[in-house]
Amino acid sequence: MSLQKKLETLKEHAAKKIPRSESIDELKELEIHFLGRKGELAALMKGMAEADASERPLLGKIANEVKVFVSEELDKKRQELLESAFAGLIEAQRADVTEPGERPPKGSIHIVERAIEEITEIFERAGFNRVRHPEVEWDWYAFEALNMPGDHPARDEWETFFMDAPESKKWGKMLLTPHATSGTARTLADRKPPIRSINISKTYRRQIDITHVPMFHQFDGVFVDEGVSVTNLLGILDYFVKTFFGEDREARLRPFHFRFTEPSFEIDISCGVCHGKGELDDGSKCRTCKRGWLELGGAGILHPNVLKAANIDPKKYSGLAFGFGVERTYMMKEGLSLDDIRTLYKNDLRFLKQF
Ligand code: DAH
Repeated sequence: MSLQKKLETLKEHAAKKIPRSESIDELKELEIHFLGRKGELAALMKGMAEADASERPLLGKIANEVKVFVSEELDKKRQELLESAFAGLIEAQRADVTEPGERPPKGSIHIVERAIEEITEIFERAGFNRVRHPEVEWDWYAFEALNMPGDHPARDEWETFFMDAPESKKWGKMLLTPHATSGTARTLADRKPPIRSINISKTYRRQIDITHVPMFHQFDGVFVDEGVSVTNLLGILDYFVKTFFGEDREARLRPFHFRFTEPSFEIDISCGVCHGKGELDDGSKCRTCKRGWLELGGAGILHPNVLKAANIDPKKYSGLAFGFGVERTYMMKEGLSLDDIRTLYKNDLRFLKQF
């Protein structure tokens, strides 16, 4: 076969094979096969030396045309392959904006936290501002400053957790706040009258059973000014009860004893089920309350010793204080009677989702 024929055959092969190739890698192989240093064209060019001198210019021209043709075919095909690969990529990554999205699960605030927010807001409207105190407290604020000296038996009412920490000469032992009234002692010591504040905090007791958890929340309010009396106390509690529980509910004070208040009271709220009557419309006994009332917390007029411990002159100033359990108060609002108060802290979503 003449060299010219061989060049033409090479061109025909290339024209057939290149368009059929399916990948960039395959194209690369074809390029090496046809145009590489050891490729077909290079092999034919070696035969040029044997050709007739008069034919060489023509053969050279044809060889060059074949080379240009093959190169162009390769470029064309390469471009085509790249474009279709790119189109595939776009298709694969296309986001369908009409497809419905996946909603992230929606959380909500724990009922105890919600109660705290609500209570804070109610007292803020009456001019009380929320204060915060340490959860690890000195004996002084929890007991001594609240008129419960050294070995006083009233301390036993709070089954206190003591810290395994060095004792202070001045402040005594370190402990976990046994009741929020320790915050009241701190507020009195830190501020000057007139004082109107509410401390909502965690309290700790060495008790765990159906009606007790070792950690629960209390809110303690304190109001100190000239001429503060039981009338103010009743007014504030009535305002709270009506705002938090509803206009139809009433608060009453029942004489009691606390070391830090004199006189002291327990606060009751009229039952929301029998409306304070103690019996239902059909004459049967109300099972939610005791004779029409539910117990909410403690209160009273601050003992002069408590004011003195905070360097407040009891002849000039007087103060009222009150304290409730948050969990208990909230359960009463929701009409909940939890068989087991620990349910509040089990983090069982089936329970928590109901609120
Ligand atoms: N801290 C008391 C308790 O845990 C309740 C109480 C709080 C009584 C504040 C009060 C008071 O007289 O002012 O049972």
